[in-house]
Amino acid sequence: MKDCNITLIGCGNMSRSLIGGLINDGVKKEHLLATDPDAKQRLDITAQFGVTTLESNEKAVENADIIVLAVKPQVMRQVVSGLAIVLKNSSKMLISIAAGVRLTSFTKWLDTPIAVIRVMPNTPALIQSGAAALFANEHASDIQKNNTEVIMRSVGTITWLDSEDLMDAVTALSGSGPAYFFYFMESMEKSARAMGLSNEDASLLTIETALGAAKMASLSHYDLSELRKQVTSPGGTTEQAIIKFQQGDLGQLVHEAMSAAKQRAIELSQRFGE
Ligand SMILES: NC(=O)c1ccc[n+]([C@@H]2O[C@H](COP(=O)([O-])OP(=O)(O)OC[C@H]3O[C@@H](n4cnc5c(N)ncnc54)[C@H](OP(=O)(O)O)[C@@H]3O)[C@@H](O)[C@H]2O)c1
Repeated sequence: MKDCNITLIGCGNMSRSLIGGLINDGVKKEHLLATDPDAKQRLDITAQFGVTTLESNEKAVENADIIVLAVKPQVMRQVVSGLAIVLKNSSKMLISIAAGVRLTSFTKWLDTPIAVIRVMPNTPALIQSGAAALFANEHASDIQKNNTEVIMRSVGTITWLDSEDLMDAVTALSGSGPAYFFYFMESMEKSARAMGLSNEDASLLTIETALGAAKMASLSHYDLSELRKQVTSPGGTTEQAIIKFQQGDLGQLVHEAMSAAKQRAIELSQRFGE
């Protein structure tokens, strides 16, 4: 993997975090190349990481073993179609991190059998704390799958899915999930301020509580329900809050919210896959 040439198409936030993660993991910057139509984005990447950048996607993929497509779903078709000639019958591998673009769209646009691995990352990848789900098409070899794991592990944790259809659920869970936690934390912070805490204390205690709870959940061998019960003494303060959440049917509300996100992911993949 360390000798593979990796071209990243798009010099935005995700590319930046992947380049940072790969260099941290010992990948030589000479093995990395990035493209973007925006000269400023290209200059920023070179200034930050010393990585060479090009304007032309076609030229940049010529010597690549792995091509990471890190552009918005709306421009994916145009970007991929522009690589059709250079990728005809190629043994290169594509990794798409775009939400909602299905694997069959790539082989359709390129009109060639090619290894494509679809990845659904999330925003904490920007601080090397991401959670990504992966699914490969039938053309991807074990080595190519392993290389994708190495790339994505440089910015967080990964898991392989059994079916591409599960990507829509993943989008609703870990893809959109950081925003759910921000919203919940926002509400806790607001409530704490209403109870008289200073902005600083409300913010500090909310964030550190979320961080501590997530760390406990990650390190403990108890499941989430058991961990909750352990901090909910009968007749105590936490129990009163939990009863309120249950009366408002928080569980059902979360399920409805995630189902709406999943439905939107399905609609977007229909739109971007055409
Ligand atoms: N950020 C996240 O946390 C996150 C999470 C999950 C999935 N993703 C997915 O990751 C992908 C990238 O996200 P991002 O946040 O990095 O987006 P971004 O910051 O907007 O980066 C995309 C970059 O691609 C450039 N670009 C546009 N057209 C191009 C072309 N024809 N050739 C080469 N580059 C081109 C854009 O330039 P312009 O700005 O000039 O258009 C921009 O610099 C998206 O598909 C997104 O769905 C992101």
